[in-house]
Order: sequence, then C-alpha cells, then structure tokens
Amino acid sequence: MNNTEYKRRRKHLMQIMGEDAVAILPAALVRMRNRDAEFQYRQDSDFHYVTGFDEPEAVAVLVPGREHGEYILFCRENDKKMEIWNGPRAGQDGAIKDYAADDSFPIDDIDDILPGLLENKEKVYYTMGVHPDFDQRVIKWVNRLREQSRMGVHTPGEFVALDHQLHDMRLYKSAAEVKVMRKAAQISAQAHIRAMQFSKPGIYEYQLEGELLHSFIQQGARFPAYSSIVGGGKNGCILHYVENRDTLKEGELVLIDAGAELECYAADISRTFPVNGKFSKEQRALYDIVLAAQYAAIEQVKPGNHWNDPHEAAIKVITQGLIDIGILKGKLETNIKKEKYKDFYMHRTGHWLGMDVHDVGDYKVDDEWRVLEPGMVLTVEPGLYISSDHEKVAKKWHNIGIRIEDDVLVTKDGHDVLSKDAPKDADEIEALMVG
Ligand code: GLY
Ligand code: MN
Ligand code: MN
Repeated sequence: MNNTEYKRRRKHLMQIMGEDAVAILPAALVRMRNRDAEFQYRQDSDFHYVTGFDEPEAVAVLVPGREHGEYILFCRENDKKMEIWNGPRAGQDGAIKDYAADDSFPIDDIDDILPGLLENKEKVYYTMGVHPDFDQRVIKWVNRLREQSRMGVHTPGEFVALDHQLHDMRLYKSAAEVKVMRKAAQISAQAHIRAMQFSKPGIYEYQLEGELLHSFIQQGARFPAYSSIVGGGKNGCILHYVENRDTLKEGELVLIDAGAELECYAADISRTFPVNGKFSKEQRALYDIVLAAQYAAIEQVKPGNHWNDPHEAAIKVITQGLIDIGILKGKLETNIKKEKYKDFYMHRTGHWLGMDVHDVGDYKVDDEWRVLEPGMVLTVEPGLYISSDHEKVAKKWHNIGIRIEDDVLVTKDGHDVLSKDAPKDADEIEALMVG
C-alpha cells in the first residue's frame, strides 16, 4: 500500500472530524512473552490504517487545519547503538520523507509538545479503554491545559470515540485493500491445498499445521492471521480447537481453519476433508449439506441484502438437510423457529473480515441489520458439528465436524469469493487428494 492510500484515509478522517478537533492514535505496545523475549510485534490495526508505520513507540496526531502541518508523527529518534541491535528506525527524517508526515518529533518529547496541539481545540478524538496507561497520559495532557485556563488557554471540552468513525471507514475496502486481501486469500488457499495433499492417516495434526505455515511463509506471508485450527475426528467438533496435538486417524475427517496475514490483512478459510482422501457415506451426506448451505448463503451476498440474509439462508438449508437424513424430525418452519439446528450448528454464518480477522464495523444500524454494500468483505462459514455427546443421534454420525469458510467481497453486482482457489466440492477434493 502506498502513501497516497494512507494520505487519502487521513484526509477523509480529518474531514469527518472538522477543524475544531484533534485525533490521537497510539501504536501497539511491545509485549513480553517471557524474560527478555518479546511476542512478535504487530502494529495496532487502527494505527496502521492511518499511518502505514509499523514501528512501536509511536503516536500519530491529526490536527486538521494546523498551519505547520496536519499530520504529526511522534516516533523513536535515530540511535546508532540501538539500531545495531534492533535494526533501522525511521527517525524524524524518515517519518517525513518515507511516511509523509508533515511534522515529526521524538516520542520522548511528547509530554512537552502534545498539550500545545490540543490548545484551543474543542474535541479530542481518541479511543478510550484499549491502552489504559496511555488513557492516563491523554488525561494528563488535557489537565495540563486546564491548569493554564486562567491564562486564557482553552481546554477541549469533548472526548469523542475515534473508533466509531474509523471503524466505519475500515469496513469499506478500497481497491488497494481488496488487492492485498485477495492475495492473502490466494496464499491461504494454496496452503490448504498443500495440507490436503500432505494428509494421511497416522500423522499428527500439528504436522498439517506445519504444512500450512510452511506454505504461508514460502509465499511471503510470515504470520498466520490467527491460531490455526487443525482438528481430526472429534476435535473437529470443538469450535476453537488449537492444540493440534492428536494423530489423524483412518476414516476421520479433518477440519482446518487457517488463514495468512499479509501486510496487516487477514484471510480466514476453513476446509474439511477426509484424512485418507475418501469421504465415507455419512461424512459425504453431512458435507454436502454444509456445502449446499454455504452456496446458498454466498448467493445472498449482494448489495441491498442485509447482514443476516446469508445466515438465514444457511440455517434453512442445514435444517432441511438434517430433517432429510433423519437427525431432526418434523417441519422445517417449526425446527427453525425452535432453533433446533443450534444443537449442531451453534455459531453464526460469518463476520466482517479485514485487518482483524473478526474485523471492525457495526452489524446493525439503528437496531436493523446492516445493508450490504460494495467494498465490504465478510466470511461465509456454515458448519455442522456432531460430537459423541449427542446420545440421541445415531452413532454413525458421531465425531463428524465440518466447516466450510470463504472470504467474500460484496461487489456492485453481487459478490466475489476471494478464497475461491481452495477446492471445496467433495469430488474435487477427492480428486486432488488422489493426485
Ligand atoms: N478463524 C476464526 C473464525 O473463523 O471466525
Ligand atoms: Mn471466520
Ligand atoms: Mn475461520
């Protein structure tokens, strides 16, 4: 993504804010994993969205209408010694030259400079409650101004939740964002294909995870967007199974939910396939219900439909499917009304997807489901999970967990499945696994 994209975002945000406001966005903190070892640093999504700047210890400030520049980036100073250990820093020159900041100051000077930027402004756009320590500093800066009120300094009177405006912007993906998301989905699809080809009875779940990660990294996506789920047999019925430590057995299905992160954008794909490459009769029957539900749900992804339309379509197909094979009894309408499907399909059909795997953006507006619009990206991920706890269900259906998940862009005319390279028709999967 280039600076033009970030500039456009800042401009848009500043237009929404108006000239009597200041926005403050802190970078993500460095978190310690254990003594002297850090967790891999991942920039805060909002901060990255506005700046494209991926160093820690930074604060972006937007001051619409400021004469000496509207975009100020506080960041670490260049430090030859530290840079030998930890690599180059942009420093103040780099912030201006490479990241298009109008002005840049050392992060260590922020307490002296920031109150002055708030002076004579009415509103402070800031997201409270995410970084508690930083919240205290923002309050301190405002209080610093209050102390000077007798000298005629005006203190901002209003704190506004920045995330609401920003997250609405993030919900609508630009062409540049779609390009990265498509690439993240393509990389992830190739990784799923690799896992299918590698699968055989007797290997460990983590070995398939290893194939996925290997494939992500080989294709330039260094990290998964979330912890990969590789669950064989009964583990496929545990929605958030991430232990990935059991062996994959002959005759079982394996459910993989894994997606790469690329340039801070997530893919989120689930595929379910037979460990040995051949579906049993029961597995195939349930699989085809989930697949039909997924196709029906994806069909509902188009401008003008609302957020819940895909879910309602999926529920209908799944409930009818469960009636057809005798797991549910009675009429379709009654089963749906009584939510009987929830014993076997207990999650929703999707979520927004973007920089965060469960991305930001409201699902309802004024208490009504949000209408889908071009540029939104969502997952469509129906499933069926029949663990052996379902004593009233015939044993032949037990320990079958299935989820099929794709990443779907709403387009002007309908939708585009970004993750379409990952095979999902049962015959296609079997053919691939034989090969
Ligand atoms: N991988 C998390 C989800 O599917 O929502
Ligand atoms: Mn998902
Ligand atoms: Mn998923």
